[in-house]
Amino acid sequence: MARYELVKRSVALITLTNPPVNALSSVVRHGITETIERARGDPKVTAVVICGENGKFCGGADIREFAGPMRGPPLVPMLDVIEAVEKPVVAAIEGVALGGGCELALACHYRIAHSKAHVGLPEVTLGLLPAAGGTQRLPRLIGIPAALDLITTGRHVSAQEALKLGIVDQVTEQNACEVAVEFALRAVATALSSRRLSMRTTPSLPNLDALFEAVTMQVQKKARGVMAPLACIQAVRAAATMPYSQGMKRESELMATLFNSGQARALQYCFFAQRTTGKWTLPSGAQWNNSKPRDIRSIAVIGLGTMGRGIAVSLARVGISVIAVETEKKLLETGRQMVVGMLERDAKRRGVTASLNLLKFTLSLQDLKDVDLVIEAVFEDMKLKESIFKELSKVCRPGTLLCTNTSGLDVDALAGVTDRPHLVAGMHFFSPAHVMKLLEVVCGPRSSSETIATVMSLGKRIGKVSVAVGNCPGFVGNRMLKPYLDQASFLLEEGATPEQVDKALEEFGFAMGCFRMSDLAGLDVGWRVRKESGLTGPDVDRNYPPRRRHGHRYCPIPDMICEQGRMGQKTGRGWYMYDKPGSTDAKPDPLIQSLLEVYRSRYGIQPRNISSQEIIERCLFALANEGFRILEDGIAARPEDIDVIYLFGYGFPRHRGGPMFNASMVGLQRVLERLEHYQQTHPDVPHLEPSPLLKKLVACGSPPIQKWGEHIKKMYSHL
Ligand code: COA
Repeated sequence: MARYELVKRSVALITLTNPPVNALSSVVRHGITETIERARGDPKVTAVVICGENGKFCGGADIREFAGPMRGPPLVPMLDVIEAVEKPVVAAIEGVALGGGCELALACHYRIAHSKAHVGLPEVTLGLLPAAGGTQRLPRLIGIPAALDLITTGRHVSAQEALKLGIVDQVTEQNACEVAVEFALRAVATALSSRRLSMRTTPSLPNLDALFEAVTMQVQKKARGVMAPLACIQAVRAAATMPYSQGMKRESELMATLFNSGQARALQYCFFAQRTTGKWTLPSGAQWNNSKPRDIRSIAVIGLGTMGRGIAVSLARVGISVIAVETEKKLLETGRQMVVGMLERDAKRRGVTASLNLLKFTLSLQDLKDVDLVIEAVFEDMKLKESIFKELSKVCRPGTLLCTNTSGLDVDALAGVTDRPHLVAGMHFFSPAHVMKLLEVVCGPRSSSETIATVMSLGKRIGKVSVAVGNCPGFVGNRMLKPYLDQASFLLEEGATPEQVDKALEEFGFAMGCFRMSDLAGLDVGWRVRKESGLTGPDVDRNYPPRRRHGHRYCPIPDMICEQGRMGQKTGRGWYMYDKPGSTDAKPDPLIQSLLEVYRSRYGIQPRNISSQEIIERCLFALANEGFRILEDGIAARPEDIDVIYLFGYGFPRHRGGPMFNASMVGLQRVLERLEHYQQTHPDVPHLEPSPLLKKLVACGSPPIQKWGEHIKKMYSHL
């Protein structure tokens, strides 16, 4: 809807009213069309101001409408009409002017922004381009390089930056709407022709070809295989080389290609999936909207290793008091220096003062008696964690929440050693914790809904994408990683090289293939877990037939690599070789090649040529298959939660939507058939056996991912 009122006797004030972000739904477009017509035709009206209700100008096109047929007046002619109005039209931007909202503002003759407002053209992040003239008007207003930057990255810019770039005419600390009304009254006397961006020519530049070539290369490197940024470049190129009307035609053609692509669907799915994760449920029926989070002011972080340091920084930089605990003076001092340095660098980057006064460092758990919440981030050792949790039970006041940053240990077992199992939860941060956005919030069977609500809300406060998951070894992310990495190792046995597997995964869209990723993360972590699970050891001994453990196929190559001291980037050798320890430049290592050859001949394996298709199918379908089991087990509440975990924690390419969405796009029938095929060829790999849920979904006609929930049996839920 759009509200119409006459203010100051001659200004038509049009207010977009479509909470929460005043998206340009068909009803709103109707409203704008009608009210603009009314303002045009009313002789009393000398100027027009467009603003949005509740302090938000407009969050852009209504993304929910993209799935259905187009209804209501189209945006492009509506904006052309606004631009052509013979009375000054001023956009009063409060909150956000994004996407179509920004394009609406660009069609107005003037733009006034509140100092806290943000503007931008984020369509590229949804697999699209700004197709209501954004790619044609913005370059005419701010020049090609700045427009290319904004349109190809989709980044939001502050009001101050928008003023510098020339996107807005004035920034105000006051009510932008009132300022805009005064501004509009003054503008009545000024000619409008130069204010119509479609009538302007794009500022010319020397070496245009070189600029476009450089930006194209940059974009291709950063967003491998992603279509939208390249289409954005082509559209801006049209603004630089064609008259406005032809540029608009090009914009619309490029948009049509993107709009119907799987990538746009995947990226829009990601947008909503990310927002769904906050709406968690527990078996008790407790939900995100009926469990009130507690107020958390002070938090203790136990252990100042890599994880603890990152967690302390994440908390302090949003104004939470932190008490950091270590066991030895030297470790405490090193930890303090690192945390302070990280906070200072972070503050400098954000142009704020580092909140160092919020930090305290101690060697004594006794100092934690008054904190609201504890995050234990010590070494991944159950005995050590148990002893800390027992001690915390004694020291902390009865209401203190006790959380563990474990990447896969039993959170309920830890809860069991405390005097308050209902106040215990897992907080699985990803390394480096102050950078990575994902937080798995692990709900034990005894965690109360208030505890989960508190931890979820804390996650949001520190800027994380928090996903509530159930308690099982590895939770969601690391549990799914095992079958994925197993397949990659089996492919090496059968004839592939690490580079070949990585290349296939990187062509699919991963920033790094799994072997490069393992080198980055360090190979010793997984090795330790395998040792503790009794999987490692000589490959041929009386307990284990060759290449089998616990009755299933097992590939000992990763253990052999670790036995040689090759722990990845940090040792300068891993699946690849590096110039020096810590270097990131991975080069294929002939020693790995010969290790694989010796290994294969030892076991009489005839290496075969393995296609990229097989690599992708075996790795990704095994991954999704475990995801289906996780849904069956109630460890994740929805496929969206699994996808968000993989997008934010494991570098899954966003334009593929996540492992579960990708499976739905490939077609569940096809995923099932390929898993059945690979299971027949590798009957000793249980992860390749299609999950009952996958079979059930196929039997029900492969419903869209949003409908899977209706088919998931809720017999046993950990959430
Ligand atoms: N169309 C439809 N729904 C939208 C929307 C849009 N353009 N923008 C936001 N929403 C919805 C969200 O899905 C969410 O719905 P929910 O409450 O049912 O989950 C609600 O509005 C609030 O959004 P949220 O992102 O949680 O709020 P925020 O205050 O953190 O951020 C924005 C607000 C506008 C910055 C953010 O929502 C955003 O970036 N929106 C997309 C803007 C965009 O890309 N526009 C171009 C469209 S082509």
